[in-house]
Amino acid sequence: MKIVLLGPPGAGKGTLAGLLKKDRSVLHISTGDLLREEMKNETLLGQEAKSYVDKGELVPDSLVIKLIENTINKSSEMDQGYLLDGFPRTVSQAEELDVILRKIGRPVDYVIYMDADPEVIVHRLTGRRICRDCGAVYHQINRPPKVPGVCDVCGGNDLYQRTDDNEKTIRNRMDVYLKNTLPIVEYYKNKNILVKVDGTQPAESIQKYISTLLDEKFPQHKD
Ligand code: AP5
Repeated sequence: MKIVLLGPPGAGKGTLAGLLKKDRSVLHISTGDLLREEMKNETLLGQEAKSYVDKGELVPDSLVIKLIENTINKSSEMDQGYLLDGFPRTVSQAEELDVILRKIGRPVDYVIYMDADPEVIVHRLTGRRICRDCGAVYHQINRPPKVPGVCDVCGGNDLYQRTDDNEKTIRNRMDVYLKNTLPIVEYYKNKNILVKVDGTQPAESIQKYISTLLDEKFPQHKD
């Protein structure tokens, strides 16, 4: 399965990717995670990206496209399928992605478009906590870990809040999404590969719906 996860910040793209990965061996590529890794390692790209990410602005296309192209080209697991999360985010990124994937003969099967109301998004992102060790995603109220402060997946005890998960930056990320990313919906609608889901449904219900869709199209990938 070759999937793009599209939607506003906090729609649940990362959470759905985590659930889908549980029963399918598939590569999860999140440009947000890649950029945060570059920032953590203080690479040149990371230093340049930081000012954009901290304000909730998009990192320039030229930098992000190069990053995704390098990641795709060096990932041997692309053959098993992929989940692209947070890329593309502009029409120009979508066009470039088509070129990159055409070169390796792995075009997108479906674009899962998740939507959610702005106030739901603010509530979700201000309460989001992430495991520093394994990246598992929680919400203080909606999806708390079983033992407070301890990751259910790896037992790590550092559940942190992203610096861009404050209300001011979240609202800017939503504005940036409406202006730059929403037009991609039309781009993929025209290609007949867009599947819209209600991101306010419970994450497990969304996963079940998407898994059924994928099992029908790709029965050989079912575990
Ligand atoms: P990125 O890391 O991609 O952030 P984002 O798109 O804003 O998305 P999020 O990770 O915030 O949300 P999500 O939809 O994954 O939600 P999640 O599942 O975690 O990008 C960060 C920044 O990097 C950007 O602002 C930009 O600067 C830069 N960047 C990245 N890609 C770029 C690109 N291509 N071009 C240019 N710049 C780029 O869920 C959120 C919370 O809700 C969690 O707490 C979760 O537990 C909860 N939740 C999830 N689903 C549900 C549900 N169904 N019900 C109840 N709660 C739920």
